[in-house]
Amino acid sequence: MLIGGTLSRRSWGDNFMDRRSRNAFTRRRFIGTGLAIGAGAAGAAVLPGMAARAAGPLTAGDMAILRFLAALEILETDFWQQYNELGGIQDAEVPGGTGSKAYTRALAQLDADMAQYIHDNTEDEFTHFDFINHYLMANGGTPVSLEAFRMLPSSKATGADQSKMRLTNLMQLTVDTSWWTRYRSRTKNPDPPFDDTFPMAVPSIATGEHTAIPRTDKDLTPTNHLQFIANTAGFHFATIEQGGSSLYPSLAQRVSSVEVLRIVVSIGPTETMHFQTWADKAGNAPAITDPTTGLSFPDLNKPPFGGEDFQTNLIMPEPTVFLDRKFPAVSIIRPTETAGAAHGAVKFLTDMGLFRGQSTGFFTTLNDLATQADSAQRGM
Ligand SMILES: [Fe+2]
Ligand SMILES: [Fe+2]
Repeated sequence: MLIGGTLSRRSWGDNFMDRRSRNAFTRRRFIGTGLAIGAGAAGAAVLPGMAARAAGPLTAGDMAILRFLAALEILETDFWQQYNELGGIQDAEVPGGTGSKAYTRALAQLDADMAQYIHDNTEDEFTHFDFINHYLMANGGTPVSLEAFRMLPSSKATGADQSKMRLTNLMQLTVDTSWWTRYRSRTKNPDPPFDDTFPMAVPSIATGEHTAIPRTDKDLTPTNHLQFIANTAGFHFATIEQGGSSLYPSLAQRVSSVEVLRIVVSIGPTETMHFQTWADKAGNAPAITDPTTGLSFPDLNKPPFGGEDFQTNLIMPEPTVFLDRKFPAVSIIRPTETAGAAHGAVKFLTDMGLFRGQSTGFFTTLNDLATQADSAQRGM
């Protein structure tokens, strides 16, 4: 807020007007079922600069990269909405659900502001796919819709919009928490030529299937069962957002248009803002054992964890090797390898269980979008 205080009145006013018009649009889009399809007229009203500009046609590669990113942002929006319904703030900006007091309280063990952060992350994801789809439409492209695949069930816990069908499944997750040790390593990098691998911070959720939201009201007790679910969510938030932090720079390397590059490098760092927030909160997850499963969250500051690879207050990237060991260590996002980045993202999300129960058609569509994005070549 202090920094905000230095903004001119004009900046504040402009931001306020932008937000008001966007919120009106956001509500319509969230409530409607059509989402991206048929949004052209509304988009022209909200984004006049984009719609009116006489831009040259996008290359097939740029369109493919944007379409793949739109698809992933739609999927992100879908599961963040599920989190927001139960553990966020349900309001005009992010409507849906009525909240679960017990789940919200368990999440608040990680940080008192978790509900606000969940809300804001949800809104951000919505704007990501909405903007990209409108940009595609304004430049001769086809927006992405995954509505045909909205067929997975909701949580039946009080507070969820129980009748709404979903694109993603938060109730059978396998959560890769190796980002925790990857970003703390000073000597390793997942990208070629290093190809290093990293241990999990939370081995108990790295295998099997774990819910990150209460499935029914039975999941609200006993206390440490619900806390295990909230802790799982806390780590899942960061696992997802570190993926976005890598995906955007990975794909940016094959964008041709400077304006599309601007879009990709302007959205990507917001994923990193999300990631760092969640990385910080995950470190506050209480070390508990779920009495119904016997599975535990560890105290990451104590043996056999602890030390630089695990200590919870290292929330910024440790500098590490990059490109070649002849260069000095540098603080970077990793991985950022561009070859196969889109397919890598699909595999990562699929292995996580986020699409458990989805149809063959869903995977075909997502893999087709990834194949096209990974075929994009940078042209000048
Ligand atoms: Fe996003
Ligand atoms: Fe994200």
